Amino acid sequence: MTFSQPEKLLLLENIHPVAHQRLKETGFVLEGEKGSLSEADLTERLKGYQAVGIRSKTQLTQEVLTANPQLQVVGAFCIGTNQIDLEAANRLGLPVFNAPYSNTRSVAEMIIAELVILSRQLGDRNSLAHRGDWDKSAEGAREVRGKTLGIVGYGHIGSQVSVLAEAMGLRVIFYDVVKKLPLGNARGVDSLGELLKQADFVTLHVPETDLTKNMMAAPQLQMMKPGGFLLNASRGTVVDIEALAQSLKLGHLAGAAIDVFPVEPKNNQEKFVSPLQGLSNVFLSPHIGGSTEEAQQAIGLEVAESFIRFFKQGTTAGAVNFPQLDIPALGPGVLRLSNVHRNVPGVMGQINGIVSELDANIRAQYLSTDNHIGYLVMDLEWKVGQGDPLADPRAQALWQKVMAMSQSVKTRLWTGA
Ligand code: NAI
Repeated sequence: MTFSQPEKLLLLENIHPVAHQRLKETGFVLEGEKGSLSEADLTERLKGYQAVGIRSKTQLTQEVLTANPQLQVVGAFCIGTNQIDLEAANRLGLPVFNAPYSNTRSVAEMIIAELVILSRQLGDRNSLAHRGDWDKSAEGAREVRGKTLGIVGYGHIGSQVSVLAEAMGLRVIFYDVVKKLPLGNARGVDSLGELLKQADFVTLHVPETDLTKNMMAAPQLQMMKPGGFLLNASRGTVVDIEALAQSLKLGHLAGAAIDVFPVEPKNNQEKFVSPLQGLSNVFLSPHIGGSTEEAQQAIGLEVAESFIRFFKQGTTAGAVNFPQLDIPALGPGVLRLSNVHRNVPGVMGQINGIVSELDANIRAQYLSTDNHIGYLVMDLEWKVGQGDPLADPRAQALWQKVMAMSQSVKTRLWTGA
């Protein structure tokens, strides 16, 4: 329940200051921790907080979440959400927000840089120069202008790469399993094979799925133009890395830029080993496509905004584990009730019964469900007199009756004031 007290938020793992600033100026009470906490410490530390924000190191287990029934929402200030028990969070009525597209531009810019790096063998020349070797020659060095770039996966990143590449004079073709609107002069092709045959550069921007696993294996690499280049900053499982090493050693491909690997070190202390090491014109990077200051800042703002929309409006759109509702802002004279309940028959009838018993007029009602839970947001016309409308005994009775329903998981009540 929200009885005019500001919500308390705990942000762990040094989340970007813009998130702190944005949430504070919106009126939340905020505390931060530099690092992550153990399961036992976190369970205790979270007491009294309505929201928790973490990055990739904090494990939000079922035990931690169950022990903190006052929690209303979880923010993953990063891309992945493996560190959170999403199913438990769903059953406990906790939407989990992350920031999947905050680093789109960062990846796209790195790909553009790599097109030139590969085309001019800049990686190798750089290494030679550092070792004192002067390799001044134009042989095999080409401009990217006028070459064909084949983009596999024309989603957020792929389409950004498309726009930037055209500005550099590349001809862009793309292949996607979903029909996509081509940007600028880019042109969609009907099959991966068609793309591989035409492109001088092939860049992969697909998710990790059963269909994309090893989608670039020996036969596909063989279909690429002799002297072509492969770039992968999507997921490590998309390319058969042994087959790629073989193709490069045989001289079929002229180079590759690889940012993601089937097996990656878990931290900066662990050694990195790959069959691609030591091959010429192979540019390797440690999964940093999306790692920029700007992306960290954008992640901070994106998740902070999700918290704000959730607490102020009840919006769950964008949550990774929850029925999706995009709710308009609260107007004056309205009391907003939200209820997460087990998705079984009869809940709506009961809630409507409680509301009509209180003689409250329903102005709007929004409902979204998944297999396990339903999420309802209801706007009620409410006379707002002097003082706190939530201190009104009718409002309190409403909250208590809805919360007391056997199917209820979480119930909130708030006004726009
Ligand atoms: P997105 O979901 O916006 O786009 C993916 C596109 O791939 C969609 O248009 C989808 O229809 C298409 N697709 C799916 N299966 C396909 C298939 N079998 N063949 C052709 N197209 C297919 O994703 P976004 O944000 O563009 O990310 C793309 C990849 O980049 C993801 O794998 C993501 O994990 C990775 N990534 C890597 C980063 C890095 O640091 N290297 C940072 C950010 C994302």
